[in-house]
Amino acid sequence: GKRMTVPGLKGRKVDGRTEQPIVMLTAYTMRMAQLLDPHCEMLLVGDSLGQVIYGLPSTVPVTLDMMCNHGAAVVRGSWHALVAVDMPFGSYEASPEQAFASAARVMKETGCAAVKLEGGEAMAPTVRFLTERGIPVIGHVGLTPQAVNSLGGYGARGRSEAEAAKIKADAIAVAQAGAFSVVLEGVMEELATEITRAIPVPSIGIGASAECDGQVLVTEDMLGLFERTPRFVKRYDDLASRIGAAVETYAQEVKARSFPTADQTYRPKN
Ligand code: KIV
Ligand code: NA
Repeated sequence: GKRMTVPGLKGRKVDGRTEQPIVMLTAYTMRMAQLLDPHCEMLLVGDSLGQVIYGLPSTVPVTLDMMCNHGAAVVRGSWHALVAVDMPFGSYEASPEQAFASAARVMKETGCAAVKLEGGEAMAPTVRFLTERGIPVIGHVGLTPQAVNSLGGYGARGRSEAEAAKIKADAIAVAQAGAFSVVLEGVMEELATEITRAIPVPSIGIGASAECDGQVLVTEDMLGLFERTPRFVKRYDDLASRIGAAVETYAQEVKARSFPTADQTYRPKN
């Protein structure tokens, strides 16, 4: 079939309602993209790859090179989902012009259909600049991990009335500036509900309740492949322990010379 488009995705929300919630997951590699693609409307090449793939302490050190390389792999491994690539910290905040140059490079080098960037009211002019020049943008408000050094951690946002009002204004600002969907991360259910009603485009929640128009998770988190357990992660499998068990068996068999057997050995046919 044909790949999901930005208008197609946006059109999933009609009269402020999304009948069937939008399914989104992160992917960083070709093979994982192939496995997720049939089930997802959107694949996100998240800058969470900094921690998950590169072992970095946060997303702050992630580079445009990393995002371009992994973005291209995910586009090659998918055919159905809309692929969006995160703009890494430092590649878009200085000016709309800087953001355009970075986002254009990401689109040219990866073939992705959209970029995602963190920030609300302060980033709205940048969102408008990009969307008016052919670069579809997903917003990201609430808990914005690139701001960890300002926020002081990864706790839920919007617990105070003032903070909730600010996050709502942020979501509305990026939606009005042309974002075709908005990720809400780590916010109270009541706030997620209010924002979802207030914006005309789909809200995609991560730790933002079932009231959102769609959901996203870090794939390695939901598969139990990465040691990190925020409240909002549901583990659908425990792949880390399954990989551990398989590798333990391999190690035992190598040491016992019971692998390889004749089945895995080249010998003259007769
Ligand atoms: O980097 C990421 O993986 C993300 C989300 C999970 C929304 O931004
Ligand atoms: Na991200």
